[in-house]
Parts: sequence; structure tokens; C-alpha cells
Amino acid sequence: MLVWDSKLDTGIEVIDAQHKRIVTYVNHLEVAKTKGDKTLVGEVIEQLVDYTQSHFSFEESMMEEAGYKFLKPHQKVHELFIKRVTGFTMRAAKGEDVVDELHTMLTTWLINHIASEDHDYASTVQKMLANKAGGQDASDKGKSGFISGLLGRFFRSGGRH
Ligand SMILES: [Fe+2]
Repeated sequence: MLVWDSKLDTGIEVIDAQHKRIVTYVNHLEVAKTKGDKTLVGEVIEQLVDYTQSHFSFEESMMEEAGYKFLKPHQKVHELFIKRVTGFTMRAAKGEDVVDELHTMLTTWLINHIASEDHDYASTVQKMLANKAGGQDASDKGKSGFISGLLGRFFRSGGRH
């Protein structure tokens, strides 16, 4: 089971919460795999992919708003990840048992990605959010409004599903 390591924190609360949620999905996958429950495995993979895609879009919008200079390569990395996962689900659809391999890939890829590429945009995005928070009335409305706008745009139920 994966345990969240605070070294993985980006310091951006909303992003860290999403990353933790993804880690929880990976752990659910391990449980389903251990149980040998194929239906559950399929369901968890579907939820994990759906949530991760929403998270990627959310993250990309943050980077874009912040004018992060490596947005394009970061987007490419996200795209390649989705392609890789799709490769697995296609093999699974043909009846191949890919769950061990997929679980290993998810564990290593996600942790590495969060620790390196995501860590890299953290300070730029933090500055952008701090600027929004320091708006006219300094009541944090600029920042929270921006974040809830993005959550509503990319997550079907405000990021809590
Ligand atoms: Fe990312």
C-alpha cells in the first residue's frame, strides 16, 4: 500500500488533496487485485483514469494561468501517461491479465511524476495564487474563486467524487 509522504507535497493545498486522492485510487486497485475481483478492478481503473484526467486538466489550467514555461512539455507527459494507461486497458479488453503490471506502472510513474515534474511547477503556481489572494480586499476571494471555478469546470462533483 502506498502511504503519502509529505516530501510529495507541492504546498498547493488543492493539488495535494488531488494527488492524495489518486494515491487512494491506486491503493483501491491493490485491494481489488488482491481480492481477485475482476469487476471491481475494472471499476477502480475506470474511476482512477477519469479522476486523473480531470486532475491533469486542472493542473494544466493552473500552470497556464501562472504562465509556467514548461506547460507544453508537462502536457505532453500527461498525454503520454494517458496513452500508456489506454494501452493497458486495451490489452485487458482482449482478456489479458494486466493488473499487476498496471499497478506497478501506476505506482512508480505517479510517484515520480509528482516528485519531479509536479514539484517543478509548484513555486510558479504558488506565486500566481498568492497574487490572486492579495486582491483588492485581500479576503482571499480572488484565489478561492479561481480554484472553485476550475474545480467546477473539470470535476463532475467539485473534485470530491
Ligand atoms: Fe502533472
